[in-house]
Amino acid sequence: MQIVVEGRPMVARPLYSREQIENRVATLAAQINRESDAEACLTVLIVLHGAFLFAADLVRGLAMPTLIETIRLRSYHGTQSSGVIEAVTPLPADLKGKDVLIVEDIVDTGKSLAYLRQALEKAQVARVRVACLLDKPDAHDPALTPEYVGFSIGKNFVIGYGLDLDGKYRNLPYVAELVPQTNSPA
Ligand code: IMP
Ligand code: MG
Repeated sequence: MQIVVEGRPMVARPLYSREQIENRVATLAAQINRESDAEACLTVLIVLHGAFLFAADLVRGLAMPTLIETIRLRSYHGTQSSGVIEAVTPLPADLKGKDVLIVEDIVDTGKSLAYLRQALEKAQVARVRVACLLDKPDAHDPALTPEYVGFSIGKNFVIGYGLDLDGKYRNLPYVAELVPQTNSPA
């Protein structure tokens, strides 16, 4: 698949297949189950839109009772972070005293996560953990690394399985990275 980003032709190179993602998400759910109280309610806070597929698969592997909440954040324009986090929808009400699992698609600069953690602290939640499908450890402070990471990746922009480029490609059932197209013969 060829995609043009800021005038440069790029190729979407598959990084994680549907099957690899499925297996990894099941392992993450099992880990969360082991590290949670099986009887206590877990509030799953899904960061839209990027985490919608990851969250849909992850929550079906969770064994405890859950409450599903969403928040919509925005920080990206094209492949560059604007650095300014915008909450497009308000933080859910009544989070005080709750055990919260933030579900994110990817941690890049970590600014979205820092913003959310601060907002949840202010809302006086009892416990916060973060599950993300993808982590770019080279792009943020190690202190911001989530408790549950699907895959650690390099700095290339990725699309698919919920992740977008200007709103598109979220429906791809796999994750692909965008790499510059070379003109060498196939
Ligand atoms: P951060 O605040 O820089 O950590 O960015 C977090 C948000 O930016 C993620 O939740 C994604 O929605 C988006 N994002 C960061 N990197 C990528 C990428 O490689 N592909 C698609 N979206 C990304
Ligand atoms: Mg996004």
